[in-house]
Amino acid sequence: MARRKKVYEGKAKILYEGPEPGTLVQYFKDDATAFNAEKRATVEGKGVLNNRLSEFFMTGLNSVGVPTHFIRRLNMREQLIRAVEIIPLEVVVRNVAAGSISKRLGIDEGTPLPRPIVEFYFKNDELGDPMVSEEHIIAFGWASQQDMDDMISLALRVNDFLSGLMLGVGIKLVDFKIEIGRVWDNDYMRLIIADEISPDSCRLWDIETGQKLDKDVFRRDLGNLADAYTEVARRLGVMPQREPPVTKPTLIN
Ligand code: TMP
Repeated sequence: MARRKKVYEGKAKILYEGPEPGTLVQYFKDDATAFNAEKRATVEGKGVLNNRLSEFFMTGLNSVGVPTHFIRRLNMREQLIRAVEIIPLEVVVRNVAAGSISKRLGIDEGTPLPRPIVEFYFKNDELGDPMVSEEHIIAFGWASQQDMDDMISLALRVNDFLSGLMLGVGIKLVDFKIEIGRVWDNDYMRLIIADEISPDSCRLWDIETGQKLDKDVFRRDLGNLADAYTEVARRLGVMPQREPPVTKPTLIN
């Protein structure tokens, strides 16, 4: 069988050419990185969980009219997606202070914010993804004024959808990051949600106990990351099957 063509390899995922033009296959690795890949580990089962969870969130978003790149899941670690032209920004929405905003502005982690705050970071590993303003984004041509309005609207719709979903299973959506891409339908360009939505790119706290159920478990050495993600999947009713065990042949008399 011909080897399929790798289009891009990131820290947690690989993109391969898809079966039809305009599609890609997104493969979820077990690799976990933090602090711009200064900290790395392999977390068995993370890729399977994130594939299922991203499918779950993106399917839900598609069904409420928030367009995403997700087409269908192919297997335990792969999903078919629409190819997009990624806008080189990480769009972060925050409901509660945590992580970098707490550090930068001296706000205690866990402080509710007066309204959801949308932030933009320039996707550039060499520069450590610096925060940028609308002025930078428009001046450097990464997105237009119309794109900005559309990105903020998409980000807030994702926030409403995910916050409600999480609240229903006793989880607080503290913040999250999304990536957005352009697609063309004939001459008409529109923006859709791309990349992934998973506990790698959200902060999720148990409402009762405050227990962290996201990648901070790995960033801050708080326990087993796969257990935390499994708990999120379990509560949402997304039960990933375990990968088939590697069975050794048994000798039968
Ligand atoms: P921050 O508090 O470190 O800025 O992170 C905000 C949110 O964005 C948090 O949910 C984690 C997510 N995030 C990513 O998905 N990728 C990244 O590279 C970073 C820095 C944060």
